[in-house]
Amino acid sequence: MRFSTSFRSAPFLAACVLAKANLPAIPEDTSTPVQQRLAIYGPNSVSIGWNTYAQQEEPCVEYGTSSASLEQRACASSASTTYPTSRTYENVVVLSNLTSGTIYYYKIVSTNSSTDHFLSPRSPGDETPFSINAVIDLGVYGEDGFTIEGDTSKRDTIPHIQPALNHTTIGRLANTVDDYEFIIHPGDFAYADDWFLSLDNLLDGENAYQAILENFYDQLAPISGRKPYMASPGNHEAACGEIPYLTGLCPDGQKNFTDFMHRFGKTMPSAFDSASSNYSAQVLANQARELAEPPFWYSFEYGMAHIVMINTETDFEDAPSGQGGSAGLNGGPFGGKNQQLQFLEADLASVDRNITPWVLVAGHRPWYTSGSSCTPCQEAFEEIFYKYGVDIAVFGHVHNAQRFAPVYQDEADPNGMSDPKAPMYIVSGAAGNIEGLSSFGWSKPEHLEFGNDEDYTYSTIRFLDREHLQVDFIGSVSGDVLDSSTLYKTHGERFVRQ
Ligand SMILES: *[C@@H]1O[C@H](CO)[C@@H](O)[C@H](O)[C@H]1NC(C)=O
Ligand SMILES: *[C@@H]1O[C@H](CO)[C@@H](O)[C@H](O)[C@H]1NC(C)=O
Ligand SMILES: *[C@@H]1O[C@H](CO)[C@@H](O)[C@H](O)[C@H]1NC(C)=O
Ligand SMILES: *[C@@H]1O[C@H](CO)[C@@H](O)[C@H](O)[C@H]1NC(C)=O
Ligand SMILES: *[C@@H]1O[C@H](CO)[C@@H](O)[C@H](O)[C@H]1NC(C)=O
Repeated sequence: MRFSTSFRSAPFLAACVLAKANLPAIPEDTSTPVQQRLAIYGPNSVSIGWNTYAQQEEPCVEYGTSSASLEQRACASSASTTYPTSRTYENVVVLSNLTSGTIYYYKIVSTNSSTDHFLSPRSPGDETPFSINAVIDLGVYGEDGFTIEGDTSKRDTIPHIQPALNHTTIGRLANTVDDYEFIIHPGDFAYADDWFLSLDNLLDGENAYQAILENFYDQLAPISGRKPYMASPGNHEAACGEIPYLTGLCPDGQKNFTDFMHRFGKTMPSAFDSASSNYSAQVLANQARELAEPPFWYSFEYGMAHIVMINTETDFEDAPSGQGGSAGLNGGPFGGKNQQLQFLEADLASVDRNITPWVLVAGHRPWYTSGSSCTPCQEAFEEIFYKYGVDIAVFGHVHNAQRFAPVYQDEADPNGMSDPKAPMYIVSGAAGNIEGLSSFGWSKPEHLEFGNDEDYTYSTIRFLDREHLQVDFIGSVSGDVLDSSTLYKTHGERFVRQ
């Protein structure tokens, strides 16, 4: 029996006929694009993903460098796709051969669409300073009331200002739109699997899960349709509910990261060709591209940065959301045995610091954190991060803001923020969501340099030059910079091995 069916047929609940999921209205014109999302797809290419309420035979995008003449056109090689329980279809078009660092205007071809624009990716090696945001554990806002119902003591108060969503992380991302070039979001997007926390949903779980996904990605579209939005998985993408050992009861389409895979699988990149003159770096980058498994693990380059998105949920020993993992979510595997770790080694080994001095890795579950640390993640990844001199590691999962001194194997790097060998670690998991913030309680973790568990926050990472990287934690409501730190690295080694 299906989980949601059992709720629907429960006789004592059958009286509550009015309670049902808050599904968005379907536009009359079913070619209307919704849930737009951009991604950096290659050194000169950007993918445009969007959903529609009917299958499109040939999804296309018109684009150009002037809003007055969108003279180029790119189309998908196949019709849009869907999965069981979804009301929408995913469309993907890749725009290639773009001039880097240039404003492009684009219009998804539809009888009901408008023109938007984006900045094309900066070429690997371009030393123009730029900033990105790390937004993690976001969740739906607004009419679902998810961030304002229940215990409000630790939750944001959000006025009903759809669709502007002022006064939220999404509102802040809109108001600061000129301050960052793209966003990384390693995991926990809509919190669709928390549908049962809203009483209205109890009779209608299957639809409620989809309603939350639709509402969330609609709310995000003004941001993700303007700025590349780079995704990797969190535990809340896994299944219809975080109910240990019962995820097999989820309907098809609502387990094993299905929505996440459909939504981002064809929009995220794999790994770029190496721009290095070193032959073995080129070979390693090719291996990384073969081993990448977007949207679960992959890499890309942008100006001074090489960025790797990893999957802390499945595909390594004792992975928490994997088969038999501690979370009981039984997802994956998405690659062969050890494929993710082989990818990470090949990818990091290929990085030529003369071209991209900064290496950032982002994943969902942290190991340096307040609350429970992901020990299997630490065992799988920490050694590789250190060996190849990862500069900064960005995580979420724990719903607060934390910045750690550079640290390796639980020991602080003696150099601190001045040319450490160990990575600097941050947790930036306070962007929103129905579960509220996670309090530090009485156990402040070791090596914590800054912590905030009182405000909704996200972080801005500023690539200032080859040697300086600044990390700011921003209060979503106030816009205040709550903490600012600068990491200094000489980046003297062209290929780091330590
Ligand atoms: C056209 O698109 C807008 C949103 O972009 C939507 O609100 C409206 O319902 C659509 N119109 C029709 C006729 O579908
Ligand atoms: C890429 O763009 C350049 C000029 O901007 C053009 O000459 C070239 O033919 C294009 N290549 C492809 C594959 O479209
Ligand atoms: C959001 O609110 C702030 C102050 O409350 C205001 O200055 C700003 O214009 C608002 N932005 C939008 C998009 O409504
Ligand atoms: C070429 O790259 C490899 C790693 O990919 C590195 O070990 C080697 O030292 C590099 N050679 C030179 C001359 O930099
Ligand atoms: C999850 O999906 C992946 C990729 O399609 C597949 O290889 C794996 O076997 C699936 N796992 C389960 C438990 O169905």
